[in-house]
Amino acid sequence: MRSSRDGNGSDVLVIGGGIIGLVTAWRAAQRGLRTAVVDPEPGGGAARVAAGMLAAVTELHYGEQLLLGLNVASAARYPAFVAELEAASGQETGFRACGTLAVALDSDDRAHLRELHALQQRSGLESQWLTGRECRRLEPMLTPGVRGGLRVDGDHQIDPRRLAAALLTACERAGVAFHRDWVERLTVIRDRAAGAVLAGSTELAADQVVLAAGSLSGRLPGLPDEVVPPVRPVKGQVLRLTVPAARRRTSPFLTRTVRAVVRGSQVYLVPRENGELVVGATTEEMGWDITVTAGGVYELLRDAHELVPGITELPLTETRAGLRPASPDNAPLLGPTALPGLHLATGHHRNGVLLTPVTGDVMAELLAGGELPEMARPFTPHRFSSAASVRQEQPA
Ligand code: GLY
Repeated sequence: MRSSRDGNGSDVLVIGGGIIGLVTAWRAAQRGLRTAVVDPEPGGGAARVAAGMLAAVTELHYGEQLLLGLNVASAARYPAFVAELEAASGQETGFRACGTLAVALDSDDRAHLRELHALQQRSGLESQWLTGRECRRLEPMLTPGVRGGLRVDGDHQIDPRRLAAALLTACERAGVAFHRDWVERLTVIRDRAAGAVLAGSTELAADQVVLAAGSLSGRLPGLPDEVVPPVRPVKGQVLRLTVPAARRRTSPFLTRTVRAVVRGSQVYLVPRENGELVVGATTEEMGWDITVTAGGVYELLRDAHELVPGITELPLTETRAGLRPASPDNAPLLGPTALPGLHLATGHHRNGVLLTPVTGDVMAELLAGGELPEMARPFTPHRFSSAASVRQEQPA
């Protein structure tokens, strides 16, 4: 194996060129580290499908208060992150500080939203309860049956495809090397991660390796058993509709993200400035299946139609399914593993787009400075290995 100082070597090798791998590579290169990314199609992955909601407040769940801190920290970094990325890449990302309205369609939804509101208040988050009439005043396309809602002015959106494209250009401009190939296996030399062998047989040597391969992260050949990340794919089907320009000229279709829980399923409508209206998303434990199904499309359209009946007049321009990389506690895996030289940046589940800025920052600090910043320490992969060893030590 060549040393990382030879032609195919780098200080950092990032396996996976989705938004998490790209932001890690960009930030590492900015810190002066010679950085390479391996991915057959960098800029692809779950960001091709995601709606791009930055929903730290509206996607708050019981038992996820620790994750909330990281989500809020990342949301706060977004405006400066976007400004820096757009300047570095010369590309726009579609970031919109538009806010979100979460609404209730019946008394059960209303009770659920009231609970969420109380939890948000206890957590020190800003949200405002609105009557159904007030919701419709904000968004006249909402169904007249809306029973109330939560106005969250701090939950914004970005276009994940443009975000990925901007990160790719920023990486290239910062000198990141790209290897457009699959990884055949991780290279381990003397109990240390030392690079990777690619499908085309190229050998890449690196002082540090970051595994950021989204839902595929647990499938990398050559990973020792004890460091295989507990990441599984959770399927999401997403639709894209288009609000025609002529329709937009009369009045905006929606001015902010609108969402609800309909019959127990989340549905959200994310309106972009260019007329794209993203409708998501199913949540399905289907392994590696990314088929767009008639049932998935039907349920999304049915639920979105209950919320905003006027969607039926819009052209349906795209249907797609992607895989969220989910961890057992829904929080990401960030930081060093038990294998020296190997770090993880994966398992972001529903929050990959939201957590992009903070992930780049904490991973670059780890790679360049050797220490994971305090805010990321609850999210190291070790939280699962210690739980596993406690379970194993318990008598049967
Ligand atoms: N964060 C939205 C989703 O995962 O569907």
